[in-house]
Amino acid sequence: MSYDLIKVQQKGRVGIITLNRPKQLNALSPELMQQLGAALQAYDADEGVGAIVITGNEKAFAAGADIAAMKDYSYMAAFLADYITRDWEHIRRIRKPVIAAVAGYALGGGNELAMMCDIVIAAENARFGQPEVNLGVMPGAGGTQRLPRAVGKAKAMDVCLTARMMDAQEAERAGLVSRIVPLEKLMDEALAVAEKIAGCSLPVVMMIKESINRAYESTLAEGVLFERRLFHSQFALADQKEGMAAFLEKRKPTFKHR
Ligand code: CAA
Repeated sequence: MSYDLIKVQQKGRVGIITLNRPKQLNALSPELMQQLGAALQAYDADEGVGAIVITGNEKAFAAGADIAAMKDYSYMAAFLADYITRDWEHIRRIRKPVIAAVAGYALGGGNELAMMCDIVIAAENARFGQPEVNLGVMPGAGGTQRLPRAVGKAKAMDVCLTARMMDAQEAERAGLVSRIVPLEKLMDEALAVAEKIAGCSLPVVMMIKESINRAYESTLAEGVLFERRLFHSQFALADQKEGMAAFLEKRKPTFKHR
């Protein structure tokens, strides 16, 4: 697939996807989401990539689903086209870690996209919100479900019902964001995080992601059992032998992702 609404670039073992509709503040049209899905799937299938970064520009990560594209939808059209599910949910099947590097607005579907990533790193100017209520609709890409899991019920209700934005500090305190950095350091920090992850054993990294996500879909006992079985399986990895031998020999491990 050729891309005109995103840019893709690989640096070492890190795949970088930049949302690229700056005039529309990266409004997420179905076409953009198809391109994003294709790029994510291509990096996920590429053994040379160990982690993926999604970013926008200084003013906007993404200001939400494309309002101009959806304003005339009918119920039947949205239902039959399975709007959101069809084009937006590829990211849920990506098995490698995905980092959102957020500057500026992450609103509506933009915040929902960030929440579908595994780690959110925010620039100091980042703003997070679910302003759909102002448009006469509700969040439709997981906002009412992922936001309470990330920040708790009180803040999720506040943000979704009043459309107010959280700044980076509030989002970090609330648990939506893992780190805040100055705007000019955003990509350096996101790439450093991605490179660190991509330098670790790929199957181990993938299993950690799968296991943490399992915590949201299972009881504690089931989740811990899932974790234990994955942990046991890792003694079959060459990378486990190498990692532990390197520690004991006081040298850096060289992982082969096997
Ligand atoms: N869809 C389509 N176009 C958008 C857009 C969106 N979500 N957000 C911004 N734009 C466009 C504007 O229409 C404008 O286009 P023109 O220059 O052609 O007029 C351009 O981007 C710049 O936007 P503004 O002039 O509004 O910029 P601003 O700095 O004054 O305000 C903003 C910035 C507060 C983010 C404002 O643009 C805004 O409120 N955007 C909409 C945010 C929103 O409601 N998001 C939720 C969308 S619905 C959704 O996401 C559903 C879901 O859950 C999946």
